[in-house]
Amino acid sequence: MKHQTIAVLDFGSQYTQVIARRIRECSVYSKIYHYKTSAAELRRDNVAGVILSGGPESVLKKGSPRPDKKIFDLGVPVLGICYGLQLLAQLLGGKVEKSSEREYGHGQLKIKTKGRLFRGLPNSLRVWNSHGDRLGRLPAGFKPIASTENSSYAGIADEKRGFYGIQFHPEVDHTEGGLNILENFLRNICGCKADWSMAILAEESINSIRETVGEDRVLLGLSGGVDSSVAAALIHKAIGKQLTCLFVDNGLLRQNERELVVDLYRRHFNMDVRVARAGAKFLKRLKGVSDPERKRKIIGKTFVEVFQDSLKQIGDAKFLAQGTLYPDVIESVSIDGNPAATIKSHHNVGGLPKKMKFKLLEPLRQLFKDEVRALGAELGLPKEVVWRQPFPGPGLGVRVIGDVSSRKLSVLRKADAILHEEMMESDLYYKVWQSFCVFLPVRTVGVMGDERTYENVIAVRVVESKDAMTADWVRVPYEVLQRVSTRIINEVNGVNRVVYDISSKPPGTIEWE
Ligand code: XMP
Repeated sequence: MKHQTIAVLDFGSQYTQVIARRIRECSVYSKIYHYKTSAAELRRDNVAGVILSGGPESVLKKGSPRPDKKIFDLGVPVLGICYGLQLLAQLLGGKVEKSSEREYGHGQLKIKTKGRLFRGLPNSLRVWNSHGDRLGRLPAGFKPIASTENSSYAGIADEKRGFYGIQFHPEVDHTEGGLNILENFLRNICGCKADWSMAILAEESINSIRETVGEDRVLLGLSGGVDSSVAAALIHKAIGKQLTCLFVDNGLLRQNERELVVDLYRRHFNMDVRVARAGAKFLKRLKGVSDPERKRKIIGKTFVEVFQDSLKQIGDAKFLAQGTLYPDVIESVSIDGNPAATIKSHHNVGGLPKKMKFKLLEPLRQLFKDEVRALGAELGLPKEVVWRQPFPGPGLGVRVIGDVSSRKLSVLRKADAILHEEMMESDLYYKVWQSFCVFLPVRTVGVMGDERTYENVIAVRVVESKDAMTADWVRVPYEVLQRVSTRIINEVNGVNRVVYDISSKPPGTIEWE
């Protein structure tokens, strides 16, 4: 059965992808179209409704983006959001004018007529605005259904034709009841059923990968993190052995990490996983280097070299696959032309030279992290992968403070493995954002038995966060901290002191380097 589709016409708003995502949350399929897409194409796709996104331009400006006017003759409902509302009003004969007050941020929406769009909502809502123009005169057939302090036309409707416009952004978290408004549009106005799911997304992505790739080969840098793992599982389902994964062991991995990754993907998924064991090369280059940024640069550059060298053995591949997610795509969909192929900024592969003429394959590009997790689960990836904590590309290289050596790495690995075990044991691992150890190049005095010791310090960092932009240290129960400390000091040679990091971000960062 073909599911219903809601078309989101993109006028360049930073929130367009969020609209699409909210529609998916309502179990309805949505597709983002370039704003110039013809009504005929939308008709061919049999869309059940059209949403006109917001955008940075003003409809009063000459040459600002406009849709094909015939979309209003498709016989399907249309919802204009922000810029979309102004377009809709202008194109249908209303009048848009410059507002003396720019409305930006929170506003109070007063609902006048609930109708189908605001059904079930309270009479007043805190909403998120960001616009400079406002509607001066309504097009024929429209009625105002909601207002704010600055605009008597914050919500308008032509119930008969199923045309609606709202000045605020229902898709953002800051708008109260925003999801209900969108859901009302989908269900009460467009008549969409909840007929879409992650399983359908997986199936369609698989088909589209097959179509794009054809008989060619695809190369993927597999790190074992959530994004590259889900991309690998998805592409592998689509094209099997045409996919080769390359795992670079940079010598800065955690205990047994290479073995676990290789074991899972080779044995369990039967993927073609190649391993570049390059630890010695990385360590040699890092010798004596203690500046964090220099360390990062060396690690990044060496990664690219190793990656390129490995290609000689792997042979030609036409596509380079990446687990780029929507939040990694820094540029939003550009107004004219295709979205730029922006590579994840601090992703290691970002440094691959342009002369390597790969085509990029980014099947997760439209998705948000939690959706990628759901997709991973759908594809049968285990919880340990789907819910794995983030791990920085430069790995333990930025968790050994100062210059890196194999001895320090080995001490850190053992301490970190103990923390990991205890976090799992106490059911905390999946509840926190990150939990890890840091090796400090500081030696302190201690006693063990009758002997004086003079050994290194391990710092334990456990943080909670939503997006890594801000973070707070976790109030880990004392008993857990005590077990972690006792075990690290007893079981790891070279450590006689464990400290707990109680800094928040900002002003601290999550990593120490
Ligand atoms: P900070 O330390 O900046 O970290 O608060 C924020 C998040 O980013 C991760 N991180 C990195 N990830 N390459 C990466 O791929 C890096 O160089 C890097 N530095 C930090 C960090 O683990 C945290 O989740």
